[in-house]
Amino acid sequence: MLRGEKVRLRPIEREDLPRFVRWFGDPEVRRHLSFYLPPSLAQEERWFERLQERLARNEDLVLAIETLEGVHIGNIGLHRINWKDRNAELGIAIGEKEYWDQGYGTDAIRTLLRVAFEEMNLHRVQLRVDVDNLRGIRCYEKCGFRREGTLRDMVFREGAYRDQLIMSILRSEWEEQQR
Ligand SMILES: CC(C)(COP(=O)(O)OP(=O)(O)OC[C@H]1O[C@@H](n2cnc3c(N)ncnc32)[C@H](O)[C@@H]1OP(=O)(O)O)[C@@H](O)C(=O)NCCC(=O)NCCS
Repeated sequence: MLRGEKVRLRPIEREDLPRFVRWFGDPEVRRHLSFYLPPSLAQEERWFERLQERLARNEDLVLAIETLEGVHIGNIGLHRINWKDRNAELGIAIGEKEYWDQGYGTDAIRTLLRVAFEEMNLHRVQLRVDVDNLRGIRCYEKCGFRREGTLRDMVFREGAYRDQLIMSILRSEWEEQQR
């Protein structure tokens, strides 16, 4: 169990899947996420089975975010882990909306970055975020991510193409923050 100041990160279990169906059934929660339709339990079960294979191959790391009181509020992960170039892509979703804007996302990311840099020996963590996801961008900047570039017309959502930002943090920048 990985512990931050406000959250714990733990492995995802099959029993968590009905919660994902509820979270991602909400258009407001999935608005800035990659899927545009509410998922079924069968789809989540298939995702879970495939995840086990990717976890076993060390290609991904996906963890549940729990409050210190034990409420499962979201998930966080490192994807496309590249062990040669030592980088990975961060993804996060807090599905329990009443927990937004209280610092849980920031603490979960800081906790995962500690694993990424201190345990996995990564050099760089990057992410993509919709330019109008101001909450997300603010959260990532608080964690030390820097804006690196714009992916023009990267996603089609609500009837229009929209830009995404690439943001990243290097290990040296993260170490600087720890001082
Ligand atoms: C994005 C997300 C991970 C952030 O987690 P969180 O726990 O809500 O974030 P935090 O409370 O740590 O930080 C959010 C910050 O954004 C600020 N914020 C919220 N709405 C904002 C807005 N419209 N404009 C600017 N800042 C805003 C908050 O005030 C807070 O900053 P502060 O601490 O300086 O006051 C979470 O809200 C989430 O999962 N949302 C839905 C899915 C999603 O967007 N995932 C990311 C896809 S890239």
